[in-house]
Amino acid sequence: MDIEAATREFLASPESRNHIIDTRQFKERRPLEEVFRLADKIAGEIKAGKTGYARVLDGKSMISLFYEPSTRTRLSFEMAMTKLGGSVISTENAAEFSSAVKGESLEDTIRVICGYEPDVIVMRHRENGAPLRAATVSTVPVINAGDGSNQHPTQALLDIYTVQKEIGRMDSLRVGFVGDLKKGRTVRSLAYLLSHLEGNRLFFVAPESMRLEDDIRSYMKERRVEFEESEDLGEVLPEVDVLYVTRLQKERGSTAQDGSYYVLDRKGIARMRPGSIIMHPLPRNEEIHPEVDSDPKAAYFRQSANGLYVRMALLHDMARG
Ligand code: CP
Repeated sequence: MDIEAATREFLASPESRNHIIDTRQFKERRPLEEVFRLADKIAGEIKAGKTGYARVLDGKSMISLFYEPSTRTRLSFEMAMTKLGGSVISTENAAEFSSAVKGESLEDTIRVICGYEPDVIVMRHRENGAPLRAATVSTVPVINAGDGSNQHPTQALLDIYTVQKEIGRMDSLRVGFVGDLKKGRTVRSLAYLLSHLEGNRLFFVAPESMRLEDDIRSYMKERRVEFEESEDLGEVLPEVDVLYVTRLQKERGSTAQDGSYYVLDRKGIARMRPGSIIMHPLPRNEEIHPEVDSDPKAAYFRQSANGLYVRMALLHDMARG
């Protein structure tokens, strides 16, 4: 399957509105603002101990189908559905415990699941394009919870939501990405999304073997997004409002040449601008030293917590039918 061609065809079809597969679906600012307003409202109610949203998805159900490991995405989606009053049926290790082991195709699995009448399917898969294949046969909304090295759209939505909350805007930003930019799907999704907003300037820091893929570079050029590529984290640190750090994608075959990889420590953050923030989709390995965690710039745990409210807002809209 030519994933890029299939994605373009999907994005051009009216059916794409029923699913969340790729951040290129979010070209307009207004739908983003609506999701973020709802996320804010839900977060406000929950933090105030109010129960206004506790039953809005009463009687609705979500199937979470994860063929790859996850902590944040699966649990925050499942918690989101539960907090909205819906129910969850979960396969946390579908690669081992679903009938994929017996050779069932993904398409057949989705057709069978749809027969059980869920209201939404949230899926993660190790193969690029798998959620798109699922969406083409599904009779209910499919949410891509991460596919291979391709996309992780709901992560990008919660990332932008976090930037908006922390910095107060989602455009005219200077955003630095550092790490394994070739295999990291969160970087791809967020770079696409930032390209749709006004005046963002992007800096990509990676060793030669982990540089950004050409398709993203072409997309940014098409959209006239200003971007720079470098191998030197030190020169980018003083430039950015947001530093988006990512880990080495060992499970996708990435290895640090000569064993070295970027590490952000206290000395590094001292070079960053006042008011700038550090983000990370997590899980973290060694790329952010734990001594950074107590600095107010370290926004990564606030970022992961925001995932609950953004996913509640998405489910609120998608599972209600
Ligand atoms: N950020 C993220 O996708 O984390 P998980 O792999 O734990 O879901």
